[in-house]
Amino acid sequence: MEIIDGKKIAGEVREELKSKVAKLKEGGVTPGLAAIIVGDDPASRSYLKGISKGCGNIGINMETFELPADATQEGLENKIEELNRDEKFHGIILQLPLPKHLNALKAESAISPRKDVDGTNPVNTGKLLLGEDTFLPSTPYGVQQLLVRSGNNPEGKNVVICGRSNIVGKPLMGILMQKREGANATVTVCHTRTKDLPSVTRQADILIAAMGRPKVITADMVGEGAVVIDVGVNSVEDPETGKRKLVGDVDFDNVKEKACAITPVPGGTGPMTVTMLMANTVRACEILMG
Ligand SMILES: NC(=O)c1ccc[n+]([C@@H]2O[C@H](COP(=O)([O-])OP(=O)(O)OC[C@H]3O[C@@H](n4cnc5c(N)ncnc54)[C@H](OP(=O)(O)O)[C@@H]3O)[C@@H](O)[C@H]2O)c1
Repeated sequence: MEIIDGKKIAGEVREELKSKVAKLKEGGVTPGLAAIIVGDDPASRSYLKGISKGCGNIGINMETFELPADATQEGLENKIEELNRDEKFHGIILQLPLPKHLNALKAESAISPRKDVDGTNPVNTGKLLLGEDTFLPSTPYGVQQLLVRSGNNPEGKNVVICGRSNIVGKPLMGILMQKREGANATVTVCHTRTKDLPSVTRQADILIAAMGRPKVITADMVGEGAVVIDVGVNSVEDPETGKRKLVGDVDFDNVKEKACAITPVPGGTGPMTVTMLMANTVRACEILMG
């Protein structure tokens, strides 16, 4: 049984990015990423801090633009338009969740598709499904890269994804079903209305959990020798210490006895997400430079 080390694989991708950034800098351009945050959500702030640190390490110039919690839709879209025009920035991300009075889809649609490095503009979502070149959303892109780079290429495999969210499950389905290298999988997507979930998950060569429910994928739901990828990040109380800790959607300790490869939480899919966002930013810059 192999533990798929997301930190190590993310580190390898980051080394590749470092040399690409160095080349771009030699040509006189520094890749730039603009992040917009509205209000004061602590989890969002800590996520952006992680991105900022990662960008700093590989030489991407990242700036965060903070809007107040009572910002208007028009104010938010004006900021996006301003960043669309700003040549310093090759990528723009809008941190979710937004305060309830704002429309996230409308705001995401305002991000120029050529700067949409998180692939959330519906134009890019459509391109993804059509198999056209586009910016793949960072979490599902990270899962695909983790599979390929750990020697668990999804080609021809029976992949079962648990979760159909717009940010993970659906785009991951779109990526893995494409007729292209590192994809070509037969994909099944499950959700809360799936009948007899264990009978479906047991068929998976590659089982991907993205449900946001702690440890719901138990050993009896996993086929012998499956590859298990855990996207879930859940904060639960550790009964031994009474402190909060992060666990995945997979009951790691028991499932690892059946799986042939498995990602841990933390240290699995998480480090890949920020890495692929940076990869998309570097690519956006490369495209602009021709
Ligand atoms: N590693 C990373 O970088 C990263 C990035 C993003 C998210 N995440 C984590 O990934 C998890 C999923 O995030 P998300 O935004 O995709 O979540 P989400 O929007 O809440 O979607 C959860 C999906 O799982 C399905 N689901 C929930 N419980 C289920 C069950 N018992 N059986 C079958 N399906 C079930 C839901 O089905 P319905 O559609 O029927 O409701 C829904 O489609 C979260 O833990 C999140 O923190 C991690």
